[in-house]
Amino acid sequence: MSGNSVINITLAGETDWPGFRKEARALLAKLIAPVGVAWHTPASSTADLFSDLDVSPTSPVTSAHAHGPINLVVPSSFVTLCETVILHNDPARFGLLYRLLWRLVHEPALRNDPLDADRVKAQHMAQSVRRDMHKMKAFVRFRTIEREEGKPPLHVAWFEPDNHIVEAVAPFFMRRFTQMEWAILTPERSVHWNGERLHFGPGGEPRDAPAPDAGEALWLTYYANIFNPARLKMAMMKKEMPVKYWHNLPEAELISGLAADAMARSGHMVEAAPTQPARRIVPVARVAAPTAPTAPHRGVAGAEDVVRGLFMEPIAADNPVQALAILKEATDRCRECPIGKHATQSVFGEGPVHAALMVVGEQPGDQEDLHGRPFVGPAGRLFDQALAQLGWPREQLYVTNAVKHFKFELRGKRRIHQTPTQREAAACLRWLESEIEQVQPRALIALGATAARALLGRPVAVTRERGQWHEDARGRKVLVTLHPSALLRSDPSEHEQAYKAWLDDLALASEWLKHAV
Ligand code: URA
Repeated sequence: MSGNSVINITLAGETDWPGFRKEARALLAKLIAPVGVAWHTPASSTADLFSDLDVSPTSPVTSAHAHGPINLVVPSSFVTLCETVILHNDPARFGLLYRLLWRLVHEPALRNDPLDADRVKAQHMAQSVRRDMHKMKAFVRFRTIEREEGKPPLHVAWFEPDNHIVEAVAPFFMRRFTQMEWAILTPERSVHWNGERLHFGPGGEPRDAPAPDAGEALWLTYYANIFNPARLKMAMMKKEMPVKYWHNLPEAELISGLAADAMARSGHMVEAAPTQPARRIVPVARVAAPTAPTAPHRGVAGAEDVVRGLFMEPIAADNPVQALAILKEATDRCRECPIGKHATQSVFGEGPVHAALMVVGEQPGDQEDLHGRPFVGPAGRLFDQALAQLGWPREQLYVTNAVKHFKFELRGKRRIHQTPTQREAAACLRWLESEIEQVQPRALIALGATAARALLGRPVAVTRERGQWHEDARGRKVLVTLHPSALLRSDPSEHEQAYKAWLDDLALASEWLKHAV
């Protein structure tokens, strides 16, 4: 390279880590110092990233070809750092990373200097990328587009990340919402999951995403109710949920009104006598009068529900008992799928909040639907028998279902259980997730394929994967085993053996509980 010429490297794209790595190795092998390299991406190919360098026009070199292998060993933490920093939106990031790489090779003391300005800058960039990825995972809100007959609904979200993170975050949503078809649009990139593959494409515009739906109205009701005025710390809230995200968050519309009201409401909370949460569903009354199989259609939650939510008694956000009561009520009104319309009521989970172990079944059966309680029918009796043999008091477990309403087909006067479709289970997932968020169990047990799929976000072959601990997308421990109904249906000659194997599976959780306490 002549004294003042510069080598121009154009990478394939903003996140072309393999390309960067290959070029950087080649440049290092040719002993080309960072000051003599200008990095570009197709979008920035006219920008000179080293404008402080006095360069005379050169014939651009688009690639540095290595003359031979170089023996380059860098700490693996540096590779991890590069993989994150490369997602930053600062065009100078490639120059910074190459400079760090060069210095790691030529200045061994750099490894022991965490306060070096280049290292600190790269760490800051990595931190900002990680924060951006975290915010995308937390603040993407899907809205549903119904499509023609036979096609599942499409869930579409609009999000505006600061950095080039769409490809990096997409696998999280794929694992999380495997059974839904979804798309996330951002100004720069879009990603579509069709149930089998992720497809990346060009960016979009906010108007490409759909308008609010009924499910969102329910979510707003829940949000308004768990908002605790006495605990409002606006600065903290803005730190956790920065204002720049608000325009894409449905619940943000509520914040200014709720915040404006907070002083008066928290004063009221201090003065008011203790209150019981208002319950619209009175399970006892339903038990007493289990009449027709179909309950009157109570209608989809709409704007009036949201308004009503705003004026309800203040609910402590850190009071999971009340939050669960509200969720229970919201599930009862949920009509995101057709099952709820025909059920008597929703059957929400029950058990102590903060139970160490949460057990998740498929959906309520006939008896559960009538009583409004999970696992009280034949499958529940087998479950209770297992608990007794394991020495687990049921009142120490939180027991719930992946789907909150009973799906059945009428045969004469009998209501025959029908397995919920993936679409129905996916529609219910937000309620299960909110329940888990409130209870925060240390471990979960998935009884059967529907629960396992809901918890692990992927199809689960229960016979193959049973009796093992798995991890969900958030690192939660999930033990997979059979649903008790599968045992009830098993061949009587195999029943004893099957039951024993089931107990062995479940016993893995008692072991874990013992060590976890
Ligand atoms: N089957 C389930 O999965 N859940 C119940 O609550 C009852 C039967």
